[in-house]
Amino acid sequence: MRDQNRTPFFDAVQSYIAKNRAGLHMPGHMAGQGVHKRLKEFWGENVFLSDLTEVEGLDYLHRPIGVVKEAQELAAEAYGARDSFFLVNGSTVGNQAMILSTCAPNDRVIVQRNSHRSMYGALILNELRPIYLEAEEDRLLQFQTFPSKKTFARILRDHPEAKTVFLTNPNYFGISADIAYYVEKAHSAGRRILVDEAHGSHFHFHPDLPTSAVDAGADMVVQSTHKTLAGLTQTSMLHLGSRRVDRELVRTTLTMLESSSPSYLLITALDVARMQMAVNGRDLLQRAIDLAEDARHRINTIEGLFAPGRERSRSDAVYDVDLTKLTVHVSRIGLTGFQVEEILNEDYNVEIELSDLENILAFVTIGTRKEAVDAFIEALEDIARKRRGKSSSLTSPPPIPGIPEMVLFPFEAYYAKKERVRMEDSVGRIVAELVTPYPPGIPITVPGEMMTKESVEYMVYMRDHGADLQGIQDKTAHYVQVVKER
Ligand SMILES: Cc1ncc(COP(=O)(O)O)c(C=O)c1O
Repeated sequence: MRDQNRTPFFDAVQSYIAKNRAGLHMPGHMAGQGVHKRLKEFWGENVFLSDLTEVEGLDYLHRPIGVVKEAQELAAEAYGARDSFFLVNGSTVGNQAMILSTCAPNDRVIVQRNSHRSMYGALILNELRPIYLEAEEDRLLQFQTFPSKKTFARILRDHPEAKTVFLTNPNYFGISADIAYYVEKAHSAGRRILVDEAHGSHFHFHPDLPTSAVDAGADMVVQSTHKTLAGLTQTSMLHLGSRRVDRELVRTTLTMLESSSPSYLLITALDVARMQMAVNGRDLLQRAIDLAEDARHRINTIEGLFAPGRERSRSDAVYDVDLTKLTVHVSRIGLTGFQVEEILNEDYNVEIELSDLENILAFVTIGTRKEAVDAFIEALEDIARKRRGKSSSLTSPPPIPGIPEMVLFPFEAYYAKKERVRMEDSVGRIVAELVTPYPPGIPITVPGEMMTKESVEYMVYMRDHGADLQGIQDKTAHYVQVVKER
């Protein structure tokens, strides 16, 4: 067991700066000398001094043999992984690297349908032929969570040709599946299992949080250190859990996908975030859990609002709950989540993580200030009080559409000739865009699928109620790209 207090990369950066070398190399700002003073004054000198590249003694992310290697080994040990890779382009690149290093072009691959768009990017980049796992719907909160065990077993049984399975767990709201079960089932059926755990980089460090896919023995797991821990934006990790994955292929795949000039600020942040968690993670997370639990309790005393907690676990669509995610169901006060988020922004100076039709979501992390939570709750009390006695104009949203028929594989539709049609006229046409109402970020149409009436109704409803239809070229979201008919 190594000393997890160590921060080899951060230490090496500090030692390098202390040498005060005559620098004649990238980055062009030359340790901040070339930076405009307004930015330098605002950011502080150390940011620029630390913005190094592969100089003497600082190793190289894509071929680590020194302090980067050591920092990654410490991370692997802290997380209980066989190997860990630091990522400087978020879990986006992690998802792509997992898929591109395990599936060859034209392979069939089993993927959870409500996955992040980076997974779809990998399907297109590697010309893969997906088989979808449909997720269950949490009917109370109106979002999708994870595929049922029955669906999982059926897809594995029906598709022995697909050697790789990709799951996304937990969902954005921290709702988690019985991940150990899925890993065990996939392995006993002779499949590799890759998990997008972008929202679970903290799970391993506290026993009251859902099980991490790394601990469950998944073959590869991606986590966004910047989402739920103290990494800088774009920092993530990719952990390998088994020998079913070719470590060298993963490394060379990352070399193809990531910048050849990785930011050493990001690598330093990863080194220190790992140390912080390994040394003090449990206490830091306990504080975050206590803060969120207390907030939930207080929100549940506000008439019209409901903040669900762990009491909902072990149901069909909710196996476990990340207690640090603070979801508030708001539709009973007659406003959409989108409207509440806007009011919080404009009238109360409170910025939350996201909203959807029925809910708002606040993140409570190891860095959350109690005053911020208090401001959030006081604002909610005020908003709910002002709504009392007012009528609601909310209509019920159409159901989340089922998975449409796949006429072409995503890469075929992506490269096909396209034309633009009005959303309402697209029914029966083959869609050429990945349309993802954000939040919650679940794709409604994937390139190659037949557009259905249900999908159009859902997208129009979401658009008209304030969701951003991501992936659609038309800025007004009234037109959609479809495959041109011959
Ligand atoms: C489930 C999931 N996977 C992957 C990503 C991409 O992560 P990153 O922002 O670290 O690239 C996100 C981003 O929101 C996500 O929610």
